[in-house]
Amino acid sequence: MSNLKILGICGSLRAKSTNMGLLRYAQSHTPTGIEIKIADLSALPFYNADIEQKPDAIQQLFNQITQADALLLACPEYNYSLAPALKNALDWASREPDNRLLSGKPAAIMGAGGGMGTSRAQYHLRQVSIFLNLHLLNNPEIFCNAFDGSFDENGTLINEKIQGLIGDQLVALQQWTRRLSA
Ligand SMILES: Cc1cc2nc3c(=O)[nH]c(=O)nc-3n(C[C@H](O)[C@H](O)[C@H](O)COP(=O)(O)O)c2cc1C
Repeated sequence: MSNLKILGICGSLRAKSTNMGLLRYAQSHTPTGIEIKIADLSALPFYNADIEQKPDAIQQLFNQITQADALLLACPEYNYSLAPALKNALDWASREPDNRLLSGKPAAIMGAGGGMGTSRAQYHLRQVSIFLNLHLLNNPEIFCNAFDGSFDENGTLINEKIQGLIGDQLVALQQWTRRLSA
């Protein structure tokens, strides 16, 4: 059976982002049969319907989403909701004809933030995902505190419990994706 291809998309553009730290850990500790690429959102313009010629950064994101079997969304919480960089990437992708990039795509969510672990933002993202027709994995959920020592000063994940949870989530996403495509 071929490897499951997952695309990680992170809503924080910060160099030492803890949310990117979650994706980096997932990428470097993939269970057997999974490979992960991480999208680069740093050059994405804000969605604007007047932009007729797709910038390279958009086209590259679209290609990566197309090639991915599933998405892994790292969801920071800004003012009780999902961060604009993540929403912007999803907004761009949703404008392709018939929502063909996202409709029916399996996805999982993880996030690091304040004391609520980005749960409020993640549930907003789940609401957005209904319209996008993303097929979200329900559990395990991954809600991390970015300020309790779970990450080092570079945003690298050092909390073993969360590391284990990420492994569990990747395996669950693999099974979920296979189930949806059977
Ligand atoms: C504009 C802004 C709003 C924020 N609002 C929230 C919030 O509502 N809830 C929360 O848990 N953290 C909030 N935070 C803190 C972020 O969760 C924290 O900066 C987190 O580390 C961001 O993720 P990163 O390390 O991946 O950049 C906010 C941060 C910013 C910049």
